[in-house]
Parts: sequence; C-alpha cells; structure tokens
Amino acid sequence: MKKGNQPAEPYRIKSVEAIKLLSRHERLAKIKQANYNIFKIDSADIYIDLLTDSGTAAMSNNQWAALMLGDESYAGARSFRRFEKVVKDIFRKAFVIPCHQGRVAENIMFSTVLKKGQYVLNNTHFDTTRANTLHKGGIPVDLPCEESKSHEPLPFKGNMDCRKLEEFIREHGAETIAMVIMTVTNNSSGGQPVSMANIHEVSEICQRYKLPFYFDCARFAENCYFIKRDEPGYAGKSIPEIAREMFEACDGVMMSAKKDGLANIGGFIALNDEELYGRLTELLILIEGYRTYGGLAGRDLEVLAVGLQEVMDFDYLDFRIEQVAYFGRKIIEAGMPIIEPTGGHAVFIDAGEFLPHIPPEQFPGQSLVVEFYIEGGIRVVEIGSLMFDSIDEKTGQIIHAPRELVRMALPRRVYTNSHIDYIAETAHSIVNRKDSLPGYKIIKETKFLRHFTCDLDVMVPREEKVKP
Ligand code: F0G
Repeated sequence: MKKGNQPAEPYRIKSVEAIKLLSRHERLAKIKQANYNIFKIDSADIYIDLLTDSGTAAMSNNQWAALMLGDESYAGARSFRRFEKVVKDIFRKAFVIPCHQGRVAENIMFSTVLKKGQYVLNNTHFDTTRANTLHKGGIPVDLPCEESKSHEPLPFKGNMDCRKLEEFIREHGAETIAMVIMTVTNNSSGGQPVSMANIHEVSEICQRYKLPFYFDCARFAENCYFIKRDEPGYAGKSIPEIAREMFEACDGVMMSAKKDGLANIGGFIALNDEELYGRLTELLILIEGYRTYGGLAGRDLEVLAVGLQEVMDFDYLDFRIEQVAYFGRKIIEAGMPIIEPTGGHAVFIDAGEFLPHIPPEQFPGQSLVVEFYIEGGIRVVEIGSLMFDSIDEKTGQIIHAPRELVRMALPRRVYTNSHIDYIAETAHSIVNRKDSLPGYKIIKETKFLRHFTCDLDVMVPREEKVKP
C-alpha cells in the first residue's frame, strides 16, 4: 500500500465545464426552498457535487470518438454486437441483456424470478435493490460480515458473513430464497470491497444448496483493484484476470454501468441460463426495448464498450482509489470521523458519532448534508435513517439504520485534488460549530425511497436568517 506517495492524474483535461459558488445567503434560501432535501436543488446552484458517482463520469476522447460510431438500428445493431462482446469477455457469461440503468436490471430480474414472500440475501442491499425486492413482494436480508461494524481499518469489510449465510439457508430452507447477491464494492456499507476468498466461499455455499448466485457489480473494477492491492496471492495478476476469476464464480450479474462503465447512462444483466434469458427479455421488450438495445441508444452502447475496458486500466484505478484515500485523510485532518479504510468511490462520514446531540429520529446525517451545502455549496448525501429506516412488522416500532452516515461520492475523472482541499476546508469550518447543528423532521414522505422526494423541516429554527 502506498503511503504519502500520491499518484498524479493519468490523464490531462481536454474540455472543461464552469461551476459557480452562490453567496451564503443565496445558499440558505435555496436549501430552505428545497425543504432541506438536497435532491431538490438544481445542479446550477451547486458548486461541488458529490451526490453520486453514478452517471457523472467524464468521458475519454476515445469514448467521444466511439459515440460517432453508434449504429441506431432497432434490431441487431453493430453497436450492440461490440458491447455484447466486451461484456461477455469481462463477465464470462453467454447472454447479455442491455437496459438503461441498474434498477431496471433489478426490476426485470425480481419481477421474473421472485415469488411472493421469498428472501433475497445480500452482503448489503443498495437502496434500489432493497426497494425493488420489497416492491415485488420479496424480503431483503443483509448479511454483512462482523468486521463491517469494526472501527479498525481492516481490509475487505464489504464481505458477506458466510456462517450467517449458511445458518439462514438451513433455518429457512433453500426453497424460500430467490437468490444470493454479492454487491461489489459494498456501497451501503461504506463502499468497502469484497475479497476473492469470500466470493469463492459464498459461491461454494450457493452451489451446495443450488441457489442462484449473482453479483450487483456496479463497481467491479474498483473491487478488483483492492483484491490486487490487499489480498495475498493477487499482486501479480492483472485486473482483467481478477475480474475473470470473480465472475466465473457466479451465475450472473446485474450492473449499473453508470459507475464502472465510465458512462453517463447504461446497465445490463449477463447470465448463462438460456431459459431465464428468454423470460427476462420478454419483460425487457415490454418495458425497455428490443433485446439488442434495451432502452439505450446505439451510441450509448459504443461508449459503454470503451468505458468497460478503460476502467480496468491499472493506472486509472491506482489514481482513483488513492484519490479517495487522500480525500479521506483530509476529512480526518479536518476533524470528522469517517469509515476506515476508505472504500472505492466515496468517503463516508460517521454523522452519528460526529453529532451525538442529534438522535437518529432527527437525522444527524441529514443535518450534516444541509450544513455542507450552506457552508460550501457542496452536495453530499445522507445514508442513514432517512434513507434506511424500516418498520418492524411485529412490533410496529421504527428500526433505525445501523449507522448514520453521510456519503461524499467522487465522480470519476471529474474533480482534482484542489477541489478536495476546498471540501476539507469546508468540513473544518463545520467542525468549529458542530454543537449548534440542528436536527430535522419529515413533514411529507412517500412509501418507497422516501429520501429522494420527502420534505423536511428543521427542529429548532436556525439563528442565521436569510437576508431578503
Ligand atoms: N446497485 C448499486 C450497488 C448501486 O450503487 C446502484 C446505484 C444501483 C444498484 C442502481 O443503479 O442508479 O443505475 O439504477 N447507485 C447510485 C448511487 C444511484 O448513488 O450510489 P442505477
């Protein structure tokens, strides 16, 4: 592992996009107008946008060139064949189903395979995976490893707990489980990677109990980098070799290609089961489009074919993962506690620990989200009780998220380390007045994925008044 030896960007900038910082009183007015929901603020009013690393990557010159090669034919387009070949090579599967983003892959998969009341087991479900499972009548169960709760900077804290997996299968019976999913990297658990040893162990258990084993592999290349860097026996292997070993251990994958596809839109399912391929594409044609475009333009498929290969470049990944680590060190220096080690795509601040005076039902993470916008025009996102609260079916009690986190996701190839230094300075200013940060309450919400659209209000009105 490198220490204090930051690699420089393995690319130079060819096209730029201007960003602007609104004044403090404008920012205060905007966040109030948005009912303290950061999703409701226009990007023009954001200075640095760390809401997500999804669909926000900067494309390379080769991707822009590939765009012009798009074949927009309805059926059997050349662009699909190119995309299909790349996906088959990397993910080692016989059938490829394009779709426009990851949650559609989940929707199509769960609508087709999930019987009402069946479980879906995951190291940790991402919010759309969880919501899609629930929406189709399934029960999502998270089985993160014990180490995921530790405050020690251990490697591979994204792993699944194999003992709990086997216990669950034995207790409930394999027939009650629709599939086992491994999310790489484990987004909802701090973007932590999963080790190859853990992948093999889960694969072996699934084979023994004849359970389908799928990857939710939005950030597969970042996961491969961690295996190469930190898992004994993999230093000498290339990223494509590691990816091959990973995907040969599973029955299929669902991917949001808006992350490690280095593209602004796209997703797919890849699998070996021909009969299931047939059933999945029936629904695909109904809701997305024909088998060879699935809701994407030919040019999108071209961009993805290039992006999926570029993302496995070692120098790119080395810079990417070390930039996230640099970001994490800067936030710690500023005085905020984060999940350590940093994962692949984001720095996760432990807002519960940072703001102990705000209880989970008043959303400490959301309080920090609001403050980053007011202080620096920076958009970050809550990954805590606002996103993940659930109701205990038996007692009717609210179950809070296991941790109150704030995610600062880094778009790929977009921000420089000088942007990161600015974010760290903003964090430092917030640290200086952290005890005055208020809690929030929900005043309007929806049943599924409420964090996207809910309205909030501050528990104790801010002293800082918006100037007329
Ligand atoms: N799976 C994982 C692990 C994800 O991180 C996401 C999206 C999805 C599935 C759904 O994919 O957005 O293409 O429909 N994550 C984004 C994020 C939204 O900000 O982490 P999608």
